[in-house]
Amino acid sequence: MKRAHYAVDHIGVAVLDLDQSIAHYKELFGFELYNREKLVSAGVEVAFLDTGNTFLELLVPLSSDSTLGKYMQQRGESLHHVCYEVNDIERELERFRGLGVRLLDEIPRPGAHHSRIAFLHPKDTGGVLTELCEYP
Ligand code: CO
Repeated sequence: MKRAHYAVDHIGVAVLDLDQSIAHYKELFGFELYNREKLVSAGVEVAFLDTGNTFLELLVPLSSDSTLGKYMQQRGESLHHVCYEVNDIERELERFRGLGVRLLDEIPRPGAHHSRIAFLHPKDTGGVLTELCEYP
């Protein structure tokens, strides 16, 4: 069987407290912190933990009225999204648009560690919020 070429770049998990969650994952699995940054325009602070073959992205909302803040008021701490790395994010967005997938980001925006990212609507991706990312 021919495999598709979408490597999982990271799995996003919504958390309430970054410091606590970083420490918890370190205690449970020994995951090391790879980087941590505030994405102010997205209303989140993120921490990437290296699991060995992918990353875990812990996300905490910067305010309760942000998109993630509202999400967490309903869902609490939970699995949030899956991110696939792509080589040409504009071409992928065009392709998904052609398939009738609703794009939460019509054009890519800045993501963590200098990536460009875009989200696809979970209703069109099997109920899973899906992120695409491209690295320079
Ligand atoms: Co992400």
